[in-house]
Amino acid sequence: MKLFSKFTEGLHGEIKIPGDKSISHRALICASISDGTSKISNLQESEDVINTLNSLKQLGISIVKENESYYVEGQGFKGLKESKKQLYFGNSGTGIRLMSGLLSIQNFSSNLIGDESLSKRPMRRIIEPLSKMGANISGSNKDTLPLQIIPSQKIRGINYKMPVASAQVKSAILFAGLGAQGDTKIIEKSVSRDHTERMFEYFGASITYSEKETTLKETDKFISQNIEIPGDFSSSAFFIVAALISKNSDITLKQVGMNPSRIALLSKLVEMGGDIKVLNHSSFGKEPIADINIKSSVLNPCEVTSGDVPNLIDELPILFIASCFAEGISNFNEIEELRHKESDRLKAMQDGLDKMKIKNFLDGNVFVSKVWAMITQRQIS
Ligand code: S3P
Repeated sequence: MKLFSKFTEGLHGEIKIPGDKSISHRALICASISDGTSKISNLQESEDVINTLNSLKQLGISIVKENESYYVEGQGFKGLKESKKQLYFGNSGTGIRLMSGLLSIQNFSSNLIGDESLSKRPMRRIIEPLSKMGANISGSNKDTLPLQIIPSQKIRGINYKMPVASAQVKSAILFAGLGAQGDTKIIEKSVSRDHTERMFEYFGASITYSEKETTLKETDKFISQNIEIPGDFSSSAFFIVAALISKNSDITLKQVGMNPSRIALLSKLVEMGGDIKVLNHSSFGKEPIADINIKSSVLNPCEVTSGDVPNLIDELPILFIASCFAEGISNFNEIEELRHKESDRLKAMQDGLDKMKIKNFLDGNVFVSKVWAMITQRQIS
């Protein structure tokens, strides 16, 4: 990492961002159920991803790290082995929801748990569609953790209209779809990230997907692959905004994931007047990547509408910060899904902005929040 800053000189340099978290979970899971050994490079070694990795090991998969790459010996869709111990997913909604889909098609029982925050998060959203497919999955009486999955005689493909925009829910259904009889079709109201679809395609699944519709046809196996994980766009977001709002900055982020379902923040920031250039387009597997150059910029306020939200969900907090450096009022509509993340991110951001004396309020209706930029006289050059 070559990034340096002196307060007056801004941020300068080039950085390589660690691997994408969403793709890292999917790479480990897909490799574990493929036939053969897959090599994964640039895996994000965060606690969330390591919990998924450890769960897969607990389920009998050999995963070895050698020279910065991970080698995963896949055992086929139904080749996982029963774990005598509970499977622990820490803080990770992605890990637990994706694995619930996959464990629903195994011929053994599983018990899935997480930390205090994950234990409070809504699981009804996966229990309902997986049960419709014939899975035997249940949670607490509040539909939270622990999740208990017992083997089912038959899993059927479904036609499912998603009530919430969620890639985790869509992916849980797709993983269960790998063991289902018949096609699995998912229709979404808003576009959510499509990393599972792209990874399934890369591993050889019979899958078609467009912005709001995904169909998985009966697939008998995945073929092992070498996977290079793109830099994490959500982690990049913090550097992008830092460079925009600090004077005299000019930074480049290398090999960042540019999946269209993840990068709405870039277009929002460009609309706001951000000097952002996307260079050296390429791809890792089915995932597009590029370098991003960012220079200090004078920002205008932004308007976020409900359709923007799934594509911006993890970047909304940092977009709040960018909007604090824009002259005028920025509006964020229908962002209540932020309350159901690892923490109530809407409350956390409001508390932080209040402490910094930046006006923000919910407009009676919980779905609207307004951040009023108070830092109006900036001298960005
Ligand atoms: C993720 C999907 C999103 C996102 C989360 C990662 C994924 O959650 O907020 O950080 O990897 O599928 P939802 O599916 O709940 O929207």
